[in-house]
Order: sequence, then C-alpha cells, then structure tokens
Amino acid sequence: MSLVLKAENLHSFYGKSHILHGVSIELAEGELVTLLGRNGAGKTTTLRSLMGLTPARQGRIEFFGHETTHWPSYRISRLGVGYVPEGRKIFPNLTVLENLSVPVSGPGPWTVERIFGLFPNLAERRYSWGRQLSGGEQQMLAIGRALLINPKILLLDEPSQGLAPLLVRAVFATIAAMRKEGISILLVEQNARFGLEVADRVYVMNDGEVVHSGSARELAQDEERVRALAGAESRAAAL
Ligand SMILES: Nc1ncnc2c1ncn2[C@@H]1O[C@H](COP(=O)(O)OP(=O)(O)OP(=O)(O)O)[C@@H](O)[C@H]1O
Ligand SMILES: [Mg+2]
Repeated sequence: MSLVLKAENLHSFYGKSHILHGVSIELAEGELVTLLGRNGAGKTTTLRSLMGLTPARQGRIEFFGHETTHWPSYRISRLGVGYVPEGRKIFPNLTVLENLSVPVSGPGPWTVERIFGLFPNLAERRYSWGRQLSGGEQQMLAIGRALLINPKILLLDEPSQGLAPLLVRAVFATIAAMRKEGISILLVEQNARFGLEVADRVYVMNDGEVVHSGSARELAQDEERVRALAGAESRAAAL
C-alpha cells in the first residue's frame, strides 16, 4: 500500500517553547489511524504542523510524494487534504448554507445536498446562523465543510469533543462511512474506546513525542495499557 502521508522527525515550536520533539507519522492510502494522548501531549500541534499552520522548524513532511514541509496551508489543502480543527471554527456570522459555500468544493461525491442527507439536523437549520447552532450541529457543519473539498485525506481533531453519546456515535459512523469511500483518515481522539474501535493503527503521544505505535486492535484489548499510555480513563468507560 502506498503512503499518502509521511512525516519524519518533526520539531515544532510556539515561540521559544519547543513542543514537538521528533514526531514521525505515516498514513497509508485508505488507512484510518488514530492519534491518542493526554491533554497537552502535542496532538493538535502535530496536525497544525502537518497542515502548515504551525510549520515544523525541523523535519520533513510529504503528502502524496510532494514535499510540503514549507508550503502554506492553502496549498496543502489543494492537494486534497481536509482539516477539521479542534473547537470547530465555523463562521458564527454566516448561515449554515453560507458556511458550506466557503470551501472550494473539489470534484467528487460530496455535495451540499449529500452533506444535508448525512446530517438532517443541519438541513433543517440551513438558514440559521453559525452561532445559533448547538455544539453537535457545529461539529457536523465543520465535518461537512471539510468533506466538500472532496478530500483524499482528512485530518480530524477531536470530532467527538463535547458531544452527547448519541452524537458521538453518529460522528463515528460518519467517519467509518468516509473511510469506506477510500478517504485516508488521521483522527485525533481522547475517546480511546471509539478511537481504537474504528482505527487500523494507532500512535500514542506524550510530551511531544510518539511513545507507542502499533495495531489498534491489539491496543484496544489492553485497557490498562491504554490507560497508562494515553490516560484515556473515564471518558472511554462512560460511553
Ligand atoms: N498557541 C500556543 N502557544 C504556546 N503554547 C501552546 C500553544 N498551543 C498549545 N501550546 C502548548 O503546546 C503543548 C501541546 O499542545 P497541543 O494543543 O498540541 O496538545 P493536545 O495534545 O492537542 O492537547 P488536548 O488534548 O488538550 O487538545 C501544550 O503544552 C500546550 O500548552
Ligand atoms: Mg488538542
């Protein structure tokens, strides 16, 4: 299987704070890989570095064989890399429909109508302002927006964050469906149970480093190990 993403030895900083200490991550075509880790482990920073938003000061990133290490993020997204940032980041003063017309939609199966088919709540609220949406609806909108570019890779930063259990299931069902369509997915998740259930492989980060990588199924069977590595405690148990 060919690699769609290959990141090697990334070192990233916020000002003088050295956050990522040599992170290496790979994603094969059609693969779903979950990135686990405690709060502050560097998961979001890793995605931001891959997207060129917090460019790595050392290391090398390749998407589809193109070296993108110093590319601006718009160029990276044009390669077919969708990104759903943490905290949703939708436009509060645009309607649902307007939010969905912001991305430049690429050719492929995802259209606004198809997004509405997937998330009927969103369809009903198509003329509501972004700021009027519930947390769950905002999350759906953020995912819908990323799908509209018809990405080949999707980077998802905690899509289940703050959602009620039923919506968490809906989001994970969506992720599984996207994957079936052949989208390669890198998923950051604190909900270890769901994150491991859907994934082929897993990386666990701690303190800006990858401290474990391997098969998701194997790690899922070792709850104690998950807890020790990722501190993925009560949230997983509660669901
Ligand atoms: N804009 C910033 N300026 C300075 N330090 C930052 C900034 N954003 C994050 N950090 C620090 O970088 C480290 C890694 O943060 P990051 O957001 O990547 O963690 P995370 O694994 O995504 O955590 P969480 O699970 O809480 O989202 C943390 O110590 C955090 O305090
Ligand atoms: Mg984060």
